[in-house]
Amino acid sequence: MTNQLFTPMSIANKTFKNRVVCAPHWTNFNASASYTQRYIDYLSARAEGGAGWVVTEPMGTTQNSRAEIVEGLRGWDPEVIPNWKQLTERIHSFGSKISITIGHAGRNASWTETGQPSWAPSPDPSVITREIPKEISHKEIALLIERISVIAQNAMAAGFDAIEIQVTADYLFGSFLSPLTNYRTDQYGGSLENRMRALREALQLVREKVGDKLLIGFRISADHMVKGGLTKEESAEVIRILKEEGILDFVSIIVGSYYSLSAITPAMGGPIGLAVEAAKYVRDVACLPVVVAGRIPTPEHAEEVIAGENADFIAFARPFIADPNWPNKFLAGKSETIYPCLYCNQQCVTRLSQKLPLSCVQNPSAGKEKLLEISNLSSLNKKHICVIGGGPAGIEAAISLRKAGFAITLIEQSQRLGGRLLLAAEIPGRQEWLNVIKPRIAVLEELKIEVRLETEADSKLLDEINPDGVIFAVGAKPWKSPQYRGEMNSGLFSKLNGSEFSTMDDLIDAPPRNKNIVLIDETGKRSIVALVDWLLELGNQVSVVTSFPYLGYPAMVLSQEWAIARDTFKKDGITIYPFTKVTEIDDRGAINVLNVLSGLPENLGKFDQIVLAFGDESKNLSFNENYQHWKIGDCASPRDIGAALSDGQRIANIVKEHFVDGVN
Ligand SMILES: Cc1cc2nc3c(=O)[nH]c(=O)nc-3n(C[C@H](O)[C@H](O)[C@H](O)COP(=O)(O)O)c2cc1C
Ligand code: SF4
Repeated sequence: MTNQLFTPMSIANKTFKNRVVCAPHWTNFNASASYTQRYIDYLSARAEGGAGWVVTEPMGTTQNSRAEIVEGLRGWDPEVIPNWKQLTERIHSFGSKISITIGHAGRNASWTETGQPSWAPSPDPSVITREIPKEISHKEIALLIERISVIAQNAMAAGFDAIEIQVTADYLFGSFLSPLTNYRTDQYGGSLENRMRALREALQLVREKVGDKLLIGFRISADHMVKGGLTKEESAEVIRILKEEGILDFVSIIVGSYYSLSAITPAMGGPIGLAVEAAKYVRDVACLPVVVAGRIPTPEHAEEVIAGENADFIAFARPFIADPNWPNKFLAGKSETIYPCLYCNQQCVTRLSQKLPLSCVQNPSAGKEKLLEISNLSSLNKKHICVIGGGPAGIEAAISLRKAGFAITLIEQSQRLGGRLLLAAEIPGRQEWLNVIKPRIAVLEELKIEVRLETEADSKLLDEINPDGVIFAVGAKPWKSPQYRGEMNSGLFSKLNGSEFSTMDDLIDAPPRNKNIVLIDETGKRSIVALVDWLLELGNQVSVVTSFPYLGYPAMVLSQEWAIARDTFKKDGITIYPFTKVTEIDDRGAINVLNVLSGLPENLGKFDQIVLAFGDESKNLSFNENYQHWKIGDCASPRDIGAALSDGQRIANIVKEHFVDGVN
């Protein structure tokens, strides 16, 4: 395969060292328009890792465009320039280019955060907040455009290479373009020429102010993927016209809108390269450099997109969150050590929905590059740590501790490393969970860490090894014991002792076919939806009893995947009992439930199999307490894969502090 991904390319007078772009993504690391040290370190790590082009998160344009700019510096204040310079100089020091993204969040910028009504072309309610925006006036459009031009001038003074205006779906300019959200009757609504007027005026003013010192581009959702919304044909026409007028140097293409959110950040098992077709269409019609993004998971996929002349640059958001160094690893011929994005959306998208700073399941140090940095102390080489349990927490701990300088023995009782994640990856569409384990096995080998498989860890073995410390990472098992767990479904064990129930792990071990199954879910997790899908495919009838409002709630709302849960609802063979708890399983095995909203009881009858999804309980291991020891991952407290990997990474510095400073 030719390797064009890592060849230089010029746009106007700027040359990019390769075609790899770190795509714009919100982080919640910045509290105003001046970039925090944390953000500068975060973006710089991606440039240092090999991105030829780094794009910032959106900079607000007016006070109602984003919560963060209500207080502190704003992008149109010239005082931001020295701070912005710190960022551009760091990025340039790695030979990479940097563009600033400028955006107004339109109707999605809630007054509860900005203190002001949001703006949109028409008073169409936000899909997210349901707030009705103010129809933006001509004076306000002029202010918005003026602000964008001032921010562009500040960016030019600070050394940015390009500006990229957000024209994605619900951002203000995206709403102007879409006939679904723009039903104005003045010169900014109606015909395509009118709907693109505000964008054209903004680009004209920016070009007037910055000339050719900055590349001018925008990021557009070229196909809103909703009936009546913007189409790729109209997008291409807009881009063609603006390019021919000399006010547009490049475009960055995605697809989807807030009506089809799962197209913007497609999840595990979802479509690959969904926006590539639209990108090619635009590139062919408008003949200008095109960047494309959207679940392009590997350098090989990216290479195919470029070689097929679909796009000129590939933008990656989540792959860079998951592994800032993936380009350098690829170029060094160490692809097997790239930590691929899992497309789980569990900590990037989910944490932003919760208004928390970005993090990553695969890469717990995303955004904590300095905080979780592990420095190697060669003196620790004489200290020997035994890690018991070869699941994600144990593997990660072994790697982190080795990097800190310890000698490591990793012990796993089964034949394979991976723990229960191997089971989760058995469910169709969820195989990408294996991408947690595969690269880490390669790193274990690279670091020459001793791994003992099929080895039972007991006191005798520990005494033989005689380590200086022990990490317990033995995991958890699905909860299935008759102790009372929470108020919900308390009637489960009144007549039964637990042996009658199955768990998710049991189902994966022995997949049922053509059975009538009831699943009692108190986790609200994404994995339940995948499991139900699979059970239906195997010809089972599945009834889900849950005290939550619906299947996969709340996880799939936070990860913006509710459309996937909705598709599962529509399938044949599924019945859902939301807001419902089990009050009793009677003498004949029939399940009695109560709808907690209506207060009405119901007898659901008998089922072939009763499956409990009530979360997990930690596993215990008896051992000689004299060893200095730490518990991590699910055996410390059963949480999730992100917590397991985070524990595994953080333990290195904790153990190091213990041996170096005597901290317990
Ligand atoms: C956490 C997160 C925040 C994002 N924020 C933005 C944003 O503010 N503006 C934008 O245009 N795209 C944003 N995106 C979309 C990405 O730039 C990218 O188009 C999308 O994630 C698909 O690419 P990927 O599969 O490489 O992640 C965000 C994506 C993620 C995961
Ligand atoms: S949290 Fe999951 S989807 Fe998000 S970047 Fe990390 S691995 Fe990828």
